[in-house]
Amino acid sequence: MRVHLAASAAAAAERAADIVEEALRTNPFPSIGLATGSTMVGIYRSLVNRCLNGSLSFSKTTVYLLDEYIGLDAEHPQAYRNVVMRSFADLVDLRSEATFAPDCRAPDLNKEARRYDSLVRAARLDIQLLGIGGNGHIAFNEPGTPLDAETRVVELSQATRRDNARFFDSDEHVPLQAITQGIGTILQAKHILLVAQGAHKSRPIRDALEGPVTTEVPASALQLHGEVSVVLDPEAASLLSADY
Ligand code: GLP
Repeated sequence: MRVHLAASAAAAAERAADIVEEALRTNPFPSIGLATGSTMVGIYRSLVNRCLNGSLSFSKTTVYLLDEYIGLDAEHPQAYRNVVMRSFADLVDLRSEATFAPDCRAPDLNKEARRYDSLVRAARLDIQLLGIGGNGHIAFNEPGTPLDAETRVVELSQATRRDNARFFDSDEHVPLQAITQGIGTILQAKHILLVAQGAHKSRPIRDALEGPVTTEVPASALQLHGEVSVVLDPEAASLLSADY
């Protein structure tokens, strides 16, 4: 695990974008796993700017979403596909057919989750972007999830629904379920990039990086992967005891 300590949240986003760019250069037809959440905003902005100034192209890239809410209309602004289109995919030279996500309006959601799992595993993503939840979750894999879990339908915990309520009109509008890539699916990526910013991430980051590998902290499963980069701002890194 390579831990990068950035001087600020903005510097962390730039460093993360550098790492994505490096990973894309290793493959003429690269694939990226895309996460959502506030942490990703600055990273996508930086990648979009690189594309607009001509230093980086996504014309041969394919992207795969990490997770998607169940129960939102196709046009809902907080549906993760729409978030990713709005903040990244529509702003760069990605081909229109190169964005994949779980279809949460499919008639059989369990079957759809299995289909998406096969698709992502077959893609062997060059890099998977990840944020971390306040309870240590990755994607929507909540504490207690088996570390080899596949892509599946999940119930969101109260803590996660509370954390994500800021994106919705009120708490009760936050979906109850999602389809999420499993921890086992995420670990299939060639390179995983975990980014965290802010003091509210300091505990889950300490537990994920320096605690035991445990289902109670889903992000601790990243210790099992040989190629993980972690980019932190000073607040997110504040409880780490090792010298990185
Ligand atoms: C959601 C997403 C996660 C993300 C987390 C943290 O729960 N499913 O993929 O890591 O939010 O988001 P933020 O960056 O807003 O703290």
